[in-house]
Amino acid sequence: MRSQGAWWRRGRHGALIAVGLAWCGAIPGVVLAQVGTSEMLVSAQTLDDPMTTDNPFGWLRTFSPGGSIDTSNAFFQALGTNGRSCNTCHRQEEAWSITPAGVRTRFEATAGTDPIFRRNDGSNSPLADVSTLEKRRHAYSMLLNRGLIRVGIGVPATAEFTLDSVDDPYGFASAAELSLFRRPLPSTNLAFLTGVMWDARETVAPFLPPMDAGVSQANLVASLRHQVLDATLGHAQAAAAPSEDQINQIVAFELGLTTAQIRDNRAGLLNDDDAMGGPRILASQRFHVGINDTLGADPTLAAFNPGSMSLFAAWNGSASASREERESVARGEVLFNTRPIAITSVGGLNDALDMPVIAGTCTTCHNAPNVGNHTVALPLDLGLTDASRRSPDMPLYTLRNRETGAVRQTTDPGRALLTGRWKDIGKFKGPILRGAVAHPPYFHNGSAARLEDVIDFYDTRFAIGLTTPEKRDLVAFLRAL
Ligand code: HEC
Ligand code: HEC
Repeated sequence: MRSQGAWWRRGRHGALIAVGLAWCGAIPGVVLAQVGTSEMLVSAQTLDDPMTTDNPFGWLRTFSPGGSIDTSNAFFQALGTNGRSCNTCHRQEEAWSITPAGVRTRFEATAGTDPIFRRNDGSNSPLADVSTLEKRRHAYSMLLNRGLIRVGIGVPATAEFTLDSVDDPYGFASAAELSLFRRPLPSTNLAFLTGVMWDARETVAPFLPPMDAGVSQANLVASLRHQVLDATLGHAQAAAAPSEDQINQIVAFELGLTTAQIRDNRAGLLNDDDAMGGPRILASQRFHVGINDTLGADPTLAAFNPGSMSLFAAWNGSASASREERESVARGEVLFNTRPIAITSVGGLNDALDMPVIAGTCTTCHNAPNVGNHTVALPLDLGLTDASRRSPDMPLYTLRNRETGAVRQTTDPGRALLTGRWKDIGKFKGPILRGAVAHPPYFHNGSAARLEDVIDFYDTRFAIGLTTPEKRDLVAFLRAL
């Protein structure tokens, strides 16, 4: 859309806003303009597409079989009592998650009354005082600062551990309901899931590798259906379950979405010059459970290939105008596949294999080809919830092993609250990495504000010794997903 020489793009909330344009890459059919800034910005004409949204690093695009987003779907309807829909916490422009920036915009626009600001799980405590604007700012600080939702789960009666003590800055958590501050996982690219939710609590039956009858999504669909039910009763505080039709609509809608960054401000179009970025190519990515399993537990499946990312090889030695940026993305992909990491003390991996040190790479854990989650359900404890990494805004829980008396302090017991098992404390799934650039902050607890912070976490956690250029290349690659 062009109007009186101004260039327009779709803003964070779908409004069209004017931007200055400087263009450095030639796309057929796009009118070029130069406005005296060397920074490459956006092409208005492509962004006029409602499937494309902008973010600070480029454009994100969602692909759907119908070619559009059907906003009459039950996904966008308030099915409960508190005004919330799925779309309250799963927004297209925020890669179908939420970001603190987006949440703050809603807070300012509505004086903290948008349906995301509800006390059941939006505030730091369900008992928080939200009677004035200033009190709301305080009450919803975890949501406003880090995009975190309070997930309440109690210690199972049969657990191998007890909750010895609670240090909750918000004075609510107890063994009956721990307050677990977690990031909304994106409601897109779901066909690649091997577990639903950070702790896989909505996986109603394990997703299976292909059987004689071929690849089956039956357990994935059953799990997503169950998740819709729980989200409607929980997040949306519905008095009754959603109808079959509503559940079917929502699952069909979300399972049809494929999302990825399509343009990087520096490297340009991510499917240009024989690269394989963007959601349309992702939608045809071959995938089944166990397709590339590091542990190779299933002998009927092909052997593990650490080279699981192969989107940007063509940019190695790129001849385009954005050559340097493109080569950085390509180098980052190679580093992701090959940079040696001595993996130590990861619960679920080192102990499971009885190997104190595993000579791995990023793809040891992020092995789903061109997607980046794990191709079998494999909850892992990277140490993110350890007391040593606690920030003062997080609750801290002291757990005691009933049998051995051992004590562990954690900000979120993760999978252990489902299984009751001591060895599952702090375990979470590795999420899908496509489109991640559009939904900071990272990790289940939002502890990494930017992708740079994710890389720094790994560099120190595993003493990798990444150089500054290597870090830059890895970030350039992650941004291009
Ligand atoms: C108040 C915010 C909120 C609302 C409303 C909400 N969700 Fe979520 N969603 C979350 C959070 C937080 C998580 C991750 C929680 C966890 O794993 O413990 C999540 C996780 C998910 C996941 C799991 C994705 C994965 O990778 O495992 C799906 C799918 C999902 N939501 C779909 C929906 C649908 C469908 C609705 C509407 C029926 C909905 N959500 C409503 C916050 C919300
Ligand atoms: C030992 C397994 C393992 C290795 C090695 C590993 N990761 Fe991860 N990664 C995970 C798990 C598990 C999570 C989720 C952890 C959590 O939030 O509790 C994760 C999360 C992430 C996230 C955050 C995604 C989001 O949406 O929050 C990014 C980005 C990421 N990893 C990139 C990398 C890169 C780059 C490397 C290599 C330098 C790497 N990972 C190495 C297991 C691993």
